[in-house]
Amino acid sequence: MRLTAFDRSLIEARRNPDLLTLPLENVRLLDHLLTAEWGIRLLGSSDERYAEIERSCSADVAAKYADLYQQQLEYLIDGLPIPNALESVWYHFIAQDPLNGVVHSEKRTFIHGVAVLVVALIRRLGVKGPILDVGCHTGYHALLVARMTGLNVLGVDVSRAAVEYASKKAVSLGVTSARFSCGEFGAADIQTGRDGFGMVYCSDALPKRGRARFLQALADSLTAGGVCVLVGNLSTEWDTKELRRWAAAASLGFGLVDDVGGWTGPDEGFRSKDVLVLVKDRKEPLPTHLQAIYHHHWGDFQSYANAADTPWEEKTVAHYRAKIPLNALARRGDPPRLRCHLRSEKHDRVLLALDLDLGAQPPARPSRRQLGLRPVDEAPDVAPLAAAQ
Ligand SMILES: C[S@@+](CC[C@H](N)C(=O)[O-])C[C@H]1O[C@@H](n2cnc3c(N)ncnc32)[C@H](O)[C@@H]1O
Repeated sequence: MRLTAFDRSLIEARRNPDLLTLPLENVRLLDHLLTAEWGIRLLGSSDERYAEIERSCSADVAAKYADLYQQQLEYLIDGLPIPNALESVWYHFIAQDPLNGVVHSEKRTFIHGVAVLVVALIRRLGVKGPILDVGCHTGYHALLVARMTGLNVLGVDVSRAAVEYASKKAVSLGVTSARFSCGEFGAADIQTGRDGFGMVYCSDALPKRGRARFLQALADSLTAGGVCVLVGNLSTEWDTKELRRWAAAASLGFGLVDDVGGWTGPDEGFRSKDVLVLVKDRKEPLPTHLQAIYHHHWGDFQSYANAADTPWEEKTVAHYRAKIPLNALARRGDPPRLRCHLRSEKHDRVLLALDLDLGAQPPARPSRRQLGLRPVDEAPDVAPLAAAQ
């Protein structure tokens, strides 16, 4: 079987996800644009964010925000899913300036990380457009991806207010290669076009129910060889066996596993979200040891994040990767191999030829402690966590 250039890039990035990076100035530019154009920045604790809402929004908006936030919190504390009706009121309500930026600042590390990762995947894998952003909300990813790659991007969201916001933002920023459509993805009421997308990504908008159907709809939106990027709590909220089955049924083969994340602020410390990349019509099934692969490269990131001279806003996987020198990246891309040839002198031929890629072994799953995912006050090994930003 001949490997295509796409296969080679995919396998290289699978072995070393640190290759999924952009030049540091691009990583910083994306961060700058999120702050300058969307008001999405590292804003510290939830108290600081609320103070900012009280300062920058009207008293009515601040009061409604507090009420909706509290209602959602009560479900989360009880370990219950937030009802769809409450979620839609929330997404509708936050699609207004300046609230949109302040609220999304809570997820700044992930929003920035996904923007970097999607652009890096498009470049490294040579993805051709158009690109589909499922659950785009106010369009920050779609607009940034369109600008950074020059490809056409369609953002879809079930929230009409969010789609109206995104469409107006595209006009005000003069971005003509991104457009937005309102409707529930996977349902008949949304038109994503007939020609198929080169990539579909769904960040933080994966459904809690109807997942098999949703994966099928993602696959249906792609051209053959198209790339599907899922970002969410896959390692904790998705069953690997089911996911394997659904992906196979939707003709989505395994691409790679990665994560986005970093410092989120003093409330939650360091956090990550899982990334799973699938490829339409690729034959390789999802590995059974998928759970073991999530987060396995967080160790190196942790040392970088703990360094006293790493600025708080750059304690993210995206910044870390952009700062690894190119030669170190190339070296790390070479997984250890075990080669063993047993020759028979008598018959002058090879009896046994073994060529094992040790990098393909399932890595040991690190503990939450190694990942630095514990609450701030319990994580003395992640050195500067307790310090104020
Ligand atoms: C948490 S936000 C995520 C926004 C953005 N993708 C990000 O990563 O920050 C979830 C968004 O997905 C939208 N959404 C959820 N399910 C959807 C579906 N089936 N079709 C379209 N939009 C959906 C919601 O309206 C909301 O705007």
